[in-house]
Amino acid sequence: MILVTGAAGFIGSNFVIDWLDQSEEAVINVDKLTYAGNLENLAGLKGDARHQFVQGDIGDRALIDKLLAEHKPRAIVNFAAESHVDRSIHGPEDFIQTNVVGTFHLLEAARGYWQALEGDDRKNFRFLHVSTDEVYGTLSPSDPAFTETTPYAPNSPYSASKASSDHLVRAYHHTYGMPVLTTNCSNNYGPFHFPEKLIPLMIVNALAGKNLPVYGDGMQVRDWLYVKDHCSAIRRVLEAGQLGETYNVGGWNEKPNIEIVKTVCALLDELRPRADGKSYAEQITYVTDRPGHDRRYAIDATKIHRELGWKPAETFDTGIRKTVAWYLENEAWVQHVQSGDYRQWVDLQYGAKA
Ligand code: NAD
Ligand code: TYD
Repeated sequence: MILVTGAAGFIGSNFVIDWLDQSEEAVINVDKLTYAGNLENLAGLKGDARHQFVQGDIGDRALIDKLLAEHKPRAIVNFAAESHVDRSIHGPEDFIQTNVVGTFHLLEAARGYWQALEGDDRKNFRFLHVSTDEVYGTLSPSDPAFTETTPYAPNSPYSASKASSDHLVRAYHHTYGMPVLTTNCSNNYGPFHFPEKLIPLMIVNALAGKNLPVYGDGMQVRDWLYVKDHCSAIRRVLEAGQLGETYNVGGWNEKPNIEIVKTVCALLDELRPRADGKSYAEQITYVTDRPGHDRRYAIDATKIHRELGWKPAETFDTGIRKTVAWYLENEAWVQHVQSGDYRQWVDLQYGAKA
């Protein structure tokens, strides 16, 4: 079995669903259930004995030690993190606690467990750390895309905390020989994406008749990857990645934010036209920019393709269509995540701007 952290969140829940679709190997899912964790994402696994959920913090050493001793996983996949840049600007402390201190405690637990393993169990154990392209900082329009050797230059409290965790993971390999792997992925989109991030926020705001808040000039570029492709990349790295190596994961799909928002509007115009016959694009509103906003991210995913044969299955056109359709078919999920906490966040972040 494998132990997966943070798998009540967006990418982790997609990962566990896909994993159990494709393998008989059981999963222990440890998630703190912060505002971003949602057991509804895992509702499809109800009654599946291969999935066991444990509410807990990756920084809780006693809990993690106990789970490792009891279940003897052959791998740990670490998704657990505070993940939203805007929240890290309003309040960085939780990011340091979970992404830095929490990852440190998880690594310590994993080290103790791994060092006590013997024979093939020790040889085959893996600690896979899921990270982001944001650790590399920002690119100008003409810069080459990030490779695995691009120097780290994080610009937000979020990316700095992820960079810090990546360094710890690297050090545990270098110092203790721990069998670690790290993936640095670009922006994901798809089902179960919490509507504080760009794509789901635009879908839910559009349908609610609200403004579509585009930061600054809307010309910041992100490299978008359908979440199921990120999950397949992680599975592949876990299976065949070289120990101690990092793998960049991306969709070869750079787009400015305004183009993303217009694409979402056009799909909604087609699939759920506005009652007044106008385009959802009428709701686009330019608002004050994010402080320290990174201008461009782009991933060079050559290494994972060349060494492990991974490439994305979806194009942006197919992935975004599936995503918009998913939100239209899952309005109850959207309503449930828009709880009191969510409304407070929207007021704090957009109250004065939108
Ligand atoms: P998310 O915010 O949707 O989910 C994070 C999950 O971690 C939540 O379920 C939350 O409850 C849980 N969690 C938070 N603190 C915890 C703690 N201390 N202990 C245990 N669980 C805790 O995030 P996501 O978008 O699914 O991202 C997952 C991982 O992938 C993160 O490490 C993130 O940095 C990385 N990543 C995300 C993207 C993206 O576009 N979303 C891209 C590249 C990398
Ligand atoms: P986001 O989804 O928060 O991901 P990240 O900051 O990790 O890349 O934002 C994606 C891009 O969209 C980023 O350039 C910020 C921008 N953005 C907006 O223009 N408006 C919004 O309301 C949000 C949430 C993001």
